[in-house]
Amino acid sequence: MCGIVGYIGNKRACSVLIEGLKRLEYRGYDSAGVCVFSGEALHIRKATGRVAEVEALACADRDIQAGTCGIAHTRWATHGEPNEVNAHPHCNHDNRIAVVHNGIIENYVTLKQFLASKGCVFRSQTDTEVLSHLISEFYEDGADSLEEAVQAALREVSGTYGIAVVCSDEPDKIVVARKGSPLIVGVGSDEYIVASDAAAIIEHTANVVYLNDNEMAVITRDGMRTMTVDNVPVTKEVQQIEWSLEQIAKGGYEHFMLKEIMEQPEAVRMSLGGRLDLREMRVKLGGLEKVSRDLVRARKVILTGCGTAWHAALVGEYLFEDLARIPTEVEYASEFRYRNPIVDDGSLVIALSQSGETADTLAALREAREKGALALGIVNAVGSTIARETDAGVYLHAGPEIGVASTKAFTCQLVVETLIALMLGRRRFMSQPTMDQYMQALTRIPEQIERVLEQSGLVRQIVAEHVDRDNWLFLGRGYNYPVALEGALKLKEISYIHAEGLPAAEMKHGPIALIHEGMPVVFIAPRCSTYEKILGNIEEVRARRGRIIAVATEGDTGIARYCDHVIYVPDCPVPLQPILTVVPLQLMAYHAAVARGCNVDKPRNLAKSVTVE
Ligand code: G6P
Repeated sequence: MCGIVGYIGNKRACSVLIEGLKRLEYRGYDSAGVCVFSGEALHIRKATGRVAEVEALACADRDIQAGTCGIAHTRWATHGEPNEVNAHPHCNHDNRIAVVHNGIIENYVTLKQFLASKGCVFRSQTDTEVLSHLISEFYEDGADSLEEAVQAALREVSGTYGIAVVCSDEPDKIVVARKGSPLIVGVGSDEYIVASDAAAIIEHTANVVYLNDNEMAVITRDGMRTMTVDNVPVTKEVQQIEWSLEQIAKGGYEHFMLKEIMEQPEAVRMSLGGRLDLREMRVKLGGLEKVSRDLVRARKVILTGCGTAWHAALVGEYLFEDLARIPTEVEYASEFRYRNPIVDDGSLVIALSQSGETADTLAALREAREKGALALGIVNAVGSTIARETDAGVYLHAGPEIGVASTKAFTCQLVVETLIALMLGRRRFMSQPTMDQYMQALTRIPEQIERVLEQSGLVRQIVAEHVDRDNWLFLGRGYNYPVALEGALKLKEISYIHAEGLPAAEMKHGPIALIHEGMPVVFIAPRCSTYEKILGNIEEVRARRGRIIAVATEGDTGIARYCDHVIYVPDCPVPLQPILTVVPLQLMAYHAAVARGCNVDKPRNLAKSVTVE
């Protein structure tokens, strides 16, 4: 996904910009560019492929090397194919104004026609180029400053943007603005670093200003002014980034994904931290205190998210109905606002998002609030847009998740959902002894995940036997049905093996036709009320000579008779099982991707944070 970096200070801008872009590489991109002000003009270098390509070009350019102010971008193509011309920055007709942009200008066709009628010649196929010409129009048409021209241009624009703009007539100034795409300004000593993601800032400073939607900042060597895009001054607080650079680095593992899988015991401990009051045996969620009465009164819960977060929402549906007895629905965030959902002031809408920036999830959240729902967030990235736009929420505190395939965020989302469901359940009907059991069981979960992780070698061996098979099935029932979906998604995402996840009983209604000799079928089959039924499903696959890999409860030696391989997870109450049963499936996907030589942390065509619709 697109990334923005900007710099003004005493250092060589080019190095800071390139380093910043490298820190954002994990988000996924297909081309990159830098623009540095040399003292006289703007100097731009762009390339497709890796940031290193742009770095090589920039290093060979003396003007670029000399500058101490500039902007840079990594692009993930939306309008126009990934090539050098479409890469950002984009300039106006005489290259005096340069713009980098994240988001989508929705009315760019109309604006383009208008600008073309005034003589603008477009070089690229992008929506962003429209912005550079539009700003230029206003600049040349009497605007007093670059910021005034930017404001005028943004008034004409509909869509989403995080932008950084420079102009050679106003050297040593960067104008930034946001609506729908994150922008953060790092405040160092005698320097400012602008970025769409804190990862590009933290090696310089932990002091940051988060811009809200419709806000902008004018940054010069003398300081920063913040205002709305309508030019109403706003005072912004300088906040501290919580994550250290070291946390973001790989920590000795070969891949971020493996590091994040292995970090899950710690991540879950952090998610639970201070929230289980074992003295009074109650759940304490500080982020929900101000809305606790509304929560208890809620008549229905709608959980929404995308991708892995949506699977966590599906587990949430079981948790909320089972533990809190509240009618619960799950909606794809991308569908939510287009299907006129029934939401009212008795509804509690909970948006799940690791990044807190997923465009569809944010849009669903806004729709829900507009319809009168109380909106909560279960978010990992502190200070992200979703976190700031909800009425209340609970952070995951899982630490940064860099690997594109989400792992520790998923388990922590399940933990937080369980905490909320328990808190509500206890206030509505759950007895204290039942509550006590769940709370005690939760405290054991981190150590139980450790035991599952110890089997990574076994999982690798199992996977090695089947990794050449191009079609896999994942089957589970009840709480473990969403786990089957998540297992299939993980495998698809990073190993490019086709996989389907299903409720096990649905197999008979179609997918059983696919089963043939040697096809790997993964059953998530821990002890639960439907255990006998899933054994029946295993038999059905066996009869058709599928190869069976089961995830089962420790001590269930009997299941081995029906299966080719068994991976055991510790026993725990059924509502907590997904937190354990998903872990072998994450490892399975990881080892399959490594065995197939895939780029684990940056799978093809995928982005970590999808900030466009
Ligand atoms: C992308 C990522 C997924 C992630 C989804 C939702 O598709 O590749 O791994 O689950 O976005 O992201 P979020 O940050 O909202 O949880």
